[in-house]
Amino acid sequence: MIKSEIFVPDETEFSQIFNNSFNGFLLWNYHTNSSQESFSCIRLVSLAEKKRWSPYLDIDWPPDTLGSRFPCADYADPFAGFDQYEKLSRPDRLRVAWQRHAMEISELLHGEQLALMCASQLISMMPCMESRLFASTQVADEARHVEFFRRYLASAGLDICGPSPALRHLTVDTLQDPRWEIKLLICQILIESLALAQFSHLAQAGVPPTLKQGLRRIMDDEARHVRFGTDYLKSLFRSHNAEQLTGYGNYVIDKAFELAPSDNQCLAIARDHQWDIHKLRQHLRQQRIGRPELIRQRFRQLSINIKAIGLMNASIEERIMRFTGT
Ligand SMILES: [Fe+2]
Ligand SMILES: [Fe+2]
Repeated sequence: MIKSEIFVPDETEFSQIFNNSFNGFLLWNYHTNSSQESFSCIRLVSLAEKKRWSPYLDIDWPPDTLGSRFPCADYADPFAGFDQYEKLSRPDRLRVAWQRHAMEISELLHGEQLALMCASQLISMMPCMESRLFASTQVADEARHVEFFRRYLASAGLDICGPSPALRHLTVDTLQDPRWEIKLLICQILIESLALAQFSHLAQAGVPPTLKQGLRRIMDDEARHVRFGTDYLKSLFRSHNAEQLTGYGNYVIDKAFELAPSDNQCLAIARDHQWDIHKLRQHLRQQRIGRPELIRQRFRQLSINIKAIGLMNASIEERIMRFTGT
């Protein structure tokens, strides 16, 4: 008799345990219903088939010369204009700029892993077969996104940095949550809305052509995932009362505020280089005041999607306005 052993990795800096605390179920009825949502799911499944791309074949991977130029334009570099950064030699500034870029892209990579794992759980939890078929196409899409960012970091000779504490907590909480609608809400509405804003900002920020090319492909896929999430949740939340809707709305907004970009990545680099932390904080604050559009863009897409699924109300709108200073 073959004896199998359960592999349980040690929890280290490179791996983390989460518990699958949900019940999956099988569906023996393959034509669940003929509602608008299932029609929309099937249309999106067929679109996913048509738009399939390969991170190996459809991206022009350059030779390893990425490090000879800056990873983004000055206006997208939070260190630009900071005197202790500006007075470094060009090779040292390049090194710091790529170190910060590695942290930024690593965070996107970890977000893609969250989406991959969430979509895989949705396959055994969603209420109808049509939505499960869509979730299966999303698993393949997210695997491509993980591979693209993983490969991009390797091609630029960059190390993968760990996730921010906020993303780490959100990932474990979401994967352990027994409710499929929370997974859909966090993955399709929160993470994908924020990612779309971030991808679009990066694609216009003078990043290397390889990254820009991948981001364009990924944005196409994410728009489809958001569409699936908004269609499905809009229909689900129609039967909820105002108190329940406010509960879901506040949950998403709380998580969005926790994920808001902090200065932590920049401060970690500053500590490595023994820069004046107080001065850098002041510089970053000035930059934010001078460019309020960045944070507003991040919340614009999220607000549109929260509204589309029926979770927007006056108090949530006010919380967003207060946070973004609009
Ligand atoms: Fe993705
Ligand atoms: Fe996605």
